[in-house]
Amino acid sequence: MTHSNHSNDPTSRNLTVHEASVKREDRARVSGQRGAVLWFTGLSGSGKSTVANAVESRLNQLGRMTYLLDGDNVRTGLNSNLGFSDADRQENIRRVAHVAKLFWDANLITLVSFISPFRAERRMARDLIGSDFVEVFVDASLDVCEQRDPKGLYKKARQGLISDFTGISSPYEKPEHPEVVLKTGEESLEASVEKVLEYLRGKGFIGG
Ligand code: ADX
Repeated sequence: MTHSNHSNDPTSRNLTVHEASVKREDRARVSGQRGAVLWFTGLSGSGKSTVANAVESRLNQLGRMTYLLDGDNVRTGLNSNLGFSDADRQENIRRVAHVAKLFWDANLITLVSFISPFRAERRMARDLIGSDFVEVFVDASLDVCEQRDPKGLYKKARQGLISDFTGISSPYEKPEHPEVVLKTGEESLEASVEKVLEYLRGKGFIGG
């Protein structure tokens, strides 16, 4: 499979980018909502999906329009042709970053829950979204994740049945300047959810 190393300059590729007359601000005026991207990153089993789900439920109760993009789910559809090599993970994140940008542009509060192990791809996602990008580091140690092993994958990885497993045989590069850090090995789910909501309140994405 060819990964997109080609130029991003549309003209050299005979493409014409059409600017829509209805802009993000126009949609925001109708929906009364400004988009944001909550980017959850962390090891498998760190609690990304659990926290992202709980945050989405709370936002829904608060009357906010949301959408959750989850690695395990997106990998069964849009990204079903990708595995776990470095190149495939890069492509996985490139695609989901662009999907998240579309949802953000539609002013949804978009929750992205992928391991997203590489700093360079998270940087790319941040650059794509700009100031509405919120990196949430779901910071549980490898020990904690391995003890939890909710899907039995660490056990399989240790037995050599899964290759390129994050934290075992594939790297995880910790975020350097995440907006929010959740210590899911030490704090309750409610506390983690509240931290994210507090951040969103502070930035005016949600009221009260
Ligand atoms: S990412 O590294 O490309 O961002 P992503 O979040 O989409 O990963 O998918 C991770 C999920 O795939 C894990 O939660 C786990 O259920 C499953 N998985 C299967 N094989 C692997 C592997 N080798 N490394 C990590 N996760 C894996």
